[in-house]
Amino acid sequence: MTQRRSLVLGCGAYLPARVVTNDELAKTVDTSDEWIRQRTGIRERRFAAEGELTSSMATTAAQGALDMAGLNAKDVDLIVCATATPDETFPSTATRIQSNLGIERGAAFDIQAVCAGFIYALAVADNFLRLGQAETALVIGAETFSRILDWEDRTTCILFGDGAGAVAMRAATANGSAREPGLLSTHVYSDGRHHDALYVDGGPSSTGTVGHLRMEGREVFRHAVVRMSEAIDAALEANNLTPGDIDWLVPHQANLRIIDAMARRLNLPQDRVVVTVDRHANTSAASIPLALCEAVHDGRVQRGDLIMMEAMGGGFAWGSALLRW
Ligand code: ACO
Repeated sequence: MTQRRSLVLGCGAYLPARVVTNDELAKTVDTSDEWIRQRTGIRERRFAAEGELTSSMATTAAQGALDMAGLNAKDVDLIVCATATPDETFPSTATRIQSNLGIERGAAFDIQAVCAGFIYALAVADNFLRLGQAETALVIGAETFSRILDWEDRTTCILFGDGAGAVAMRAATANGSAREPGLLSTHVYSDGRHHDALYVDGGPSSTGTVGHLRMEGREVFRHAVVRMSEAIDAALEANNLTPGDIDWLVPHQANLRIIDAMARRLNLPQDRVVVTVDRHANTSAASIPLALCEAVHDGRVQRGDLIMMEAMGGGFAWGSALLRW
């Protein structure tokens, strides 16, 4: 039976120029390169320059996605930007991106699901496209976490970086087969009881300040593998597929130990897992599109490959997305 499906036609990425190594952080924070590498796999991260905004990074990534897709900005009638670090409380960062790209029609709005934001944004855009409410979408993950870190808290400030990634999507018709290209499914979940494990201690309605990131790392770790595994199982089951069908795991990049545990659970060899956490650290909503874009541009991901994406973050919010590239 013919149905609408969202094709991913292109992807784009942006990383700020400034590289900050673990050794550089260790000059001002009580930590070491050895501790950070052993516990997280992180070697370095990028920090946005003064005046560089979530929206400016996102705009560059979005333009890259349009260029690869061979689309004109005027084709876009939906922009969904996942970010926990918007330029301003309002209006949405997505509307700044829309204006930067010279787009004057359609809808643009932000999604807030922290590290799971890109999966949530894909789910929302996919539903718009499949229902015929939009034809061409930009889905973006963009963050400047360096601006919400507490530099006195060594348990969190070493973990995060800045950056942006984007995909350009277009509705097409398909016969429903998992062999055909496009987004096969998205699964999103949340459980607000875990607020205290990962949150920012500020906001317009609570403190009137921006606040800093707070995290019980062990508690997040404990839930991450279980929750993300459940989301992957749901995606495979919904498409009548098995772990053996997956060509690439493109996971949220929070910690190499979590990524390795996910790969082991799926019985995937390491060279089928896209890892950027060593160079990007955790860029929250930007981490999956940045990793996807790297693997597409260096030729690892080929058209027809099956890509499993998964993430979990503050809320807790988590999910998976299965894409036939
Ligand atoms: N440098 C040196 N020592 C440190 C540092 C540091 N940067 N940070 C903590 N330590 C110390 C601790 O104080 C503790 O010392 P103690 O034993 O004397 O008390 C020791 O190292 C061990 O600390 P733990 O917190 O138990 O270390 P753990 O092995 O759990 O690693 C980490 C911590 C890396 C944060 C890990 O728990 C983790 O990655 N958790 C998951 C985080 C995650 O996935 N987040 C994703 C979502 S993020 C989002 O949504 C925005």
